[in-house]
Amino acid sequence: MSLLEVSQLKVSYPTRDGVFDVVRDLSFELDEADSLGIAGESGSGKSQTALAIMGLLPANAQVGGSIRLDGQELIGESERVLDRLRGKSLAMVFQDPMSALNPYMTVGRQIGEVLELHQGMSANEAAKRSCELLQMTGIDEPGRRSKAYPHQFSGGQRQRILIAMALACGPRLLIADEPTTALDVTVQKKILELLRSLCKETGTALILISHDLAVLSGMCRNLMIMYGGREMERGPSQRVLLQPTHPYTAALLRTLEDLHGGAGALAVIPGEPPDLRNPPGGCPFHPRCSEVLPHCSKEIPRTRPVRRIGDKQSHWVACHLEQEQ
Ligand SMILES: Nc1ncnc2c1ncn2[C@@H]1O[C@H](COP(=O)(O)OP(=O)(O)OP(=O)(O)O)[C@@H](O)[C@H]1O
Ligand SMILES: [Mg+2]
Repeated sequence: MSLLEVSQLKVSYPTRDGVFDVVRDLSFELDEADSLGIAGESGSGKSQTALAIMGLLPANAQVGGSIRLDGQELIGESERVLDRLRGKSLAMVFQDPMSALNPYMTVGRQIGEVLELHQGMSANEAAKRSCELLQMTGIDEPGRRSKAYPHQFSGGQRQRILIAMALACGPRLLIADEPTTALDVTVQKKILELLRSLCKETGTALILISHDLAVLSGMCRNLMIMYGGREMERGPSQRVLLQPTHPYTAALLRTLEDLHGGAGALAVIPGEPPDLRNPPGGCPFHPRCSEVLPHCSKEIPRTRPVRRIGDKQSHWVACHLEQEQ
C-alpha cells in the first residue's frame, strides 16, 4: 500500500451558472519517503489538489473521489480528525511565508505552540525543540532568534521558519506549494536544497508544486503534469523530461529551453489556458495542441500506460496520439 493514494479526485465549485470543475479524474500514488513534483501553467489545479489532500479547501468546494493516507480515507473525514492528521502526518509549506506566520508572536513561540498542541510537550521542552528545529533549517543563533518576530527575518529566513514548523511533528507527507516563488533566485536554490535534504534525512514524502519543470525534475523522483484540472502525463522525472509523451509536456519543456537558451522574452505556449467555467470538449489542451487530431475535441483521452516500459508501469499519459517509443 502506498502512503498516499489519490483516486478519481474531483474538486468543483457551484456558481450561479452551474457547478464547474477545477480538478477532474486525478489519480496518483506516492510511496513512503518518495517525491512527486506537480507542474502545469497557472490555473491548472495544482494548489486545489494540494488543498484537497490537506483538507483545507474552502467550505463551498465540493470534493469527490478518494484520498487515502495510509489506507485512511480523508474525504468526508471530520474536521477534528483532519486537524489531528495535519499536526501529525500531513504538513504544508505555502508560497507566501509572511501570511502563514502570525506577525504578533515570536517565531519560537509559534513553533512551540505546534509542538505543545500536537506532541504534548511542555513549554520548556517545546522551546528547546524549537531552537533545534531553527538550527536544523539554518537559522543562526537560534536561541536569540527564536525570540524575534517574523518581520525581523528576511523572506528566505521566514520560509526556513515555516519549513521548521512544517517538520516539527515529523510528518509523513510534506506538501510545498511554490515555496520559493516569492524569493530571489539565489535564496530559492538554498531553500529547495534544504527542503530536499531535510525530507531525505527524515524520510518524509514530498509533493513539490512549481511552474519550473527543471527545478522539479532535480528535486523529485516522479513528475505529474497538469492542465485544465486534469493529469496530462505522469512518470519518472528523467523519463518525462527526456521523452515527453504528451504534446503539452513537450510544449512546456520548449518554453523552458527557450528561457534557458537565451531566447530573451519570456517564452509562452501560444493560446490561453482553458476557461474552466466553459471548458472545451474532449482533451482540455486540444485548442492549443500542435498535434491535434479530429477526435481530440470530442473525446476525453483516458490515462493510458506509455509503452516501452519494462516490468513496473510507471509512465502514464492522457492523450489520443499513439506514440510508439
Ligand atoms: N475558492 C475558489 N472558488 C472558485 N474557484 C476557485 C477557487 N479557488 C481556486 N479556484 C479556481 O480553480 C482553478 C485552479 O486553481 P489553482 O489555484 O489550483 O491553480 P494552480 O495550478 O495552483 O495555479 P497557480 O500556478 O497560479 O498557483 C483556477 O481556475 C481557480 O480560479
Ligand atoms: Mg497554485
